Amino acid sequence: MAGLFDPYALKGVTLRNRIAVPPMCQYMAEEGRATEWHRVHYASLARGGAGLVVVEATAVSPEGRITWADLGLWNDAQASALAPIVEGIRAAGAVPGIQIGHAGRKASANRPWEGDDHIPLGQPRAWETLAPSPLAFGKALSRVPRALTLDEIGRIQADTVAAARRARDLGFQWLQLHMAHGYLAQEFFSPLANHRTDAYGGSAENRARFLIETFRAVREVWPEDRVLNVRLGVVEFHGDDEALFRESADLLNRMKEAGLDFVDVSMGFNTPEAQIPWGPGMLLPVTGRMREATGLPVGTSWNLSHDPREADALLREGRLDLYTLGRTFLDDPHWPFHAARELGFEDAAARTLPPPYAHWISRYR
Ligand SMILES: Cc1cc2nc3c(=O)[nH]c(=O)nc-3n(C[C@H](O)[C@H](O)[C@H](O)COP(=O)(O)O)c2cc1C
Repeated sequence: MAGLFDPYALKGVTLRNRIAVPPMCQYMAEEGRATEWHRVHYASLARGGAGLVVVEATAVSPEGRITWADLGLWNDAQASALAPIVEGIRAAGAVPGIQIGHAGRKASANRPWEGDDHIPLGQPRAWETLAPSPLAFGKALSRVPRALTLDEIGRIQADTVAAARRARDLGFQWLQLHMAHGYLAQEFFSPLANHRTDAYGGSAENRARFLIETFRAVREVWPEDRVLNVRLGVVEFHGDDEALFRESADLLNRMKEAGLDFVDVSMGFNTPEAQIPWGPGMLLPVTGRMREATGLPVGTSWNLSHDPREADALLREGRLDLYTLGRTFLDDPHWPFHAARELGFEDAAARTLPPPYAHWISRYR
């Protein structure tokens, strides 16, 4: 099986290696527009040698932002501000990806380092939150959202398609739909957040309706030769996780039939009561099961080892198709170079870093 530094081809997209940077919100946007911070941040990650760099959760509508400083893709000015980021990632040799989504009842929060809690309605930078049902997440996110009408559900789906079109026209090669982490799509999917009695609530099929409909609508506008990826929370560490796994596998199999290319296995985060067993590679077992249940190429994250030998072995054993590291990249954007050197590649610098770095580093070490 292929290792960390073998190229990865899916549809018409080829990554130079199997190292992926997952979406990580920076909370540094202005009116949803990317800023100088984003231009430097994403180019730095790509210059470090990753194969795939996925731009952070980008909201499909203003009220779908987690915080007031999130990226958005609901207007042309936001698209223009993302253009240099696509170019910066591409010019550094990585494939540019983007995650789009809607934060549902977790929206309208303060930035993590400013409280990570809901901003009370009436204050500047606060807005009404929308969700499947008027149920609060709890703890610091205690605001009760307003239940979406059927028209509003249709509007958010149309916003998602419009954002996907903009991402397509910008040249992103990899689109990730955010259907995890207790945001809107995952709220529809979960009986913890969805108590609707119409076609979007109740049975597993009804709770999956928003997700599958949105997926199909996006597939229509997303080019066949580029990758369409879903990030889904398939485990909650609360309540009946076997039922959630089965429902997730069913949903992903239906999406596969409708053109899903890749799944990123993650957590539900639908309740602050979850007992999450934080630990090394904690989602690897459920990711392996999901790969078997769906036959889809898989990735996951959450405390994967930053030891290159372990990373390489997991890929060679066929347990993952991509190796995704989040916080490790914030700590060390040149992780791919360091990994290649540790794995003994003679050309470690040239294979991971751009010439203005590689030329010098390969001579002084
Ligand atoms: C600063 C930060 C921002 C994040 N933002 C997002 C996001 O926009 N979308 C998402 O799906 N996950 C987000 N996550 C989760 C990461 O994608 C990743 O799953 C998580 O960091 C676990 O991987 P790690 O243990 O390698 O860091 C974020 C994580 C961090 C640390």
